Amino acid sequence: MKFFIDTANLDEIKEAASIGILDGVTTNPTLLAKEKGKGDFRAILKKICETVDGPVSAEVVATDAEGMVKEAEDLARLHKNIVVKIPMSKEGLKAIKILDSKGIRTNCTLIFSPIQALMAAKAGASFVSPFVGRLDDASHIGMDLVQDVVSIFENYELATEIIVASVRNPLHVVEAAVMGADIATIPFRVIEQLIKHPLTDVGIKRFLEDWKKVEK
Ligand code: E4P
Repeated sequence: MKFFIDTANLDEIKEAASIGILDGVTTNPTLLAKEKGKGDFRAILKKICETVDGPVSAEVVATDAEGMVKEAEDLARLHKNIVVKIPMSKEGLKAIKILDSKGIRTNCTLIFSPIQALMAAKAGASFVSPFVGRLDDASHIGMDLVQDVVSIFENYELATEIIVASVRNPLHVVEAAVMGADIATIPFRVIEQLIKHPLTDVGIKRFLEDWKKVEK
């Protein structure tokens, strides 16, 4: 399974890249808003693309297909790594179809039902992003959606990759891997949680203490 980081913060991206497990990045308007004061969003996106050699999702804000396509073309011109995030909607599906015919990769975002994912794949999305945490927040089991999307894409041998998004905790990532999702996009805080285990910490401490007793 590929690991993406879900942030627009360059320090977090650099730190995650240095660990050697980073395959891509997802951003959205909310994440870019958190970087206020650090320059124009295009410059931030370019720097991210120069830091990570993998797909970097950048989202459109237009709500009509024509506007989405225009914004997508501008974003795609920034760097070859850019994947354009298109929100799931009728206009979004139209835009995905047009962008696919132009060779621009898209990530259909805000997926909350299996059929939305199937429709996005049929329209030609390169990626779909089911939002598990937001479903959990609304008292639905978010990972059930991922399981359904994995099954549907297997049934019809669809090449669209599944990005498990809105990840809130390590268990989301573990379940995504068990289910065979292609990618999890993970906040930096959760990446750090994934590395840690209390027994590993205890084990390191004990080995270091015992090393002091070894004749040298
Ligand atoms: C990913 O592509 C989404 O932008 C992100 O995972 C949303 O996460 P949130 O529900 O924590 O805002």
